[in-house]
Amino acid sequence: MTEPTHMAPKLRVLLTAEQIQTRIRELAAQIDADYPEGTLLLVCILKGACFFLSDLARALKRDVRLDFMGISSYGMGKSTSGEVKVTKDLDATVEGSDVLIVEDIVDSGVTLNYLMHLLKQRRPRSVHIAALLDKPQRRRRPVHVSYVGFQIPDQFVVGYGLDDAERYRNLPDICVVEEE
Ligand code: IMP
Ligand code: MG
Repeated sequence: MTEPTHMAPKLRVLLTAEQIQTRIRELAAQIDADYPEGTLLLVCILKGACFFLSDLARALKRDVRLDFMGISSYGMGKSTSGEVKVTKDLDATVEGSDVLIVEDIVDSGVTLNYLMHLLKQRRPRSVHIAALLDKPQRRRRPVHVSYVGFQIPDQFVVGYGLDDAERYRNLPDICVVEEE
């Protein structure tokens, strides 16, 4: 379906695919160094973190398990509704495991604040967060992010898994949406 051109938003590249890959290799090296031997359970937050999870997992040299969780506080708008919903729960038991939550972006912090409480109740050995992007200016709930890819300004971004109403997830770069 084509939209009238006057409605097409402009996309400006903020982070190239190459910059993203370089940073992911650095994060993976740090994670490999930080964790003791044993299996790390990577928990991918769908859908936005799917490409970050797949690149991060392959950059890690340690033993990992993968699991997926659907969680949303968004609806179709651009800012959080404040309401968090688990749309798909984990298959794995997390009790006694080292858990690393893999998320695309921390914005208000509502989603990850909720998720941290939820997973801690399941008694993992440890639980930490890796987020590719962080918008610190937008924080409304405290969240400790152990591994941050890039801090970015308060601008809406798409690509590399991130969407605007489900569009643009497959862009290889991360772009800012500039409304006409
Ligand atoms: P939070 O609960 O407000 O921290 O929202 C986190 C979720 O909102 C992320 O997992 C994203 O799915 C979504 N989100 C936040 N900022 C952006 C953005 O700039 N572009 C696309 N999605 C975003
Ligand atoms: Mg998300």
